[in-house]
Amino acid sequence: MPRFAYVNGRYVRHSDAAVHVEDRGYQFADGVYEVCEVRHGMIVDLTRHLDRLDRSLREIRIAWPMRRSALISVVRELLRRNKVTNGLFYLQVTRGVARRDHVFPADGTPSSIVITAKPTDPRIIAAKNSNGIKAITAPENRWDRVDVKTVGLLPNVLARQQAKEQGAQEAIFVDADGYVKEGAATNVWIIDGNGKLRTRPADHGILRGITRTTLMVVAEKLELTVEERPFTVSEMLTAREVFITAATSICFPVVEVDGKVIANGHPGTTAQKLREAFFDVAEKTAI
Ligand code: PDD
Repeated sequence: MPRFAYVNGRYVRHSDAAVHVEDRGYQFADGVYEVCEVRHGMIVDLTRHLDRLDRSLREIRIAWPMRRSALISVVRELLRRNKVTNGLFYLQVTRGVARRDHVFPADGTPSSIVITAKPTDPRIIAAKNSNGIKAITAPENRWDRVDVKTVGLLPNVLARQQAKEQGAQEAIFVDADGYVKEGAATNVWIIDGNGKLRTRPADHGILRGITRTTLMVVAEKLELTVEERPFTVSEMLTAREVFITAATSICFPVVEVDGKVIANGHPGTTAQKLREAFFDVAEKTAI
């Protein structure tokens, strides 16, 4: 079955999908993106993702490429054309195409938009949930506006690659004081010795994950206490549970960090409960 992408107003074969060489996303990483989960034919938390897109665009002063309602129609159509009922879509908006110059292009230069969609393999996700994943820590070396979901992800790419080369699946950024920030593409949580869920406050130092936001509502429903308070690497290593959240994974248990086993080395039950209740709580938009 052919795959399709949406590129600046057209649905094109994925294999032929391309942007101009002077697209500012390509030249300067001058753009923002969203990744959104699709489960059982439902788009998960679409409103929150589009609200965050709106914020990212405003923060770096890029205009919406089209009206929000039109964008939703395009996403739905693309998911239908790709027959995605369980998977992801990726949406990227850049400052458009212009002769290379660091300053913004002339007023009226249209933003570029690209959307792709792909199915995910539920068996791979299930295996990570039942076995847990391994992580490494890495010194924070990103700029201080990682609250904006820009496509400038080189430090994240290098950290993930380092994780892979060390037999791990995620790299966790740590600040100069030894406090955990977030994963290369995930938010990080622990369950501390008092049974409280803890995650770093979503200030400018991390991305305010949509999964993170929804999971707080899930936790409340399960009558779990959530504290938005930073924790150190040593608190993480001695936690009852560690898990990471993102639209791509919902809630993966972490069973090893820097080669050190967390708790008894098996995925914790709280992460599992949170994951199981997640879809009931999240907003669902039919394709
Ligand atoms: N990443 N922190 C970072 C640095 C991220 O890149 C992501 C998501 C998250 C979690 O955000 P959310 O819950 O909204 O997915 C936190 C996406 C999935 C990615 O880059 O593929």
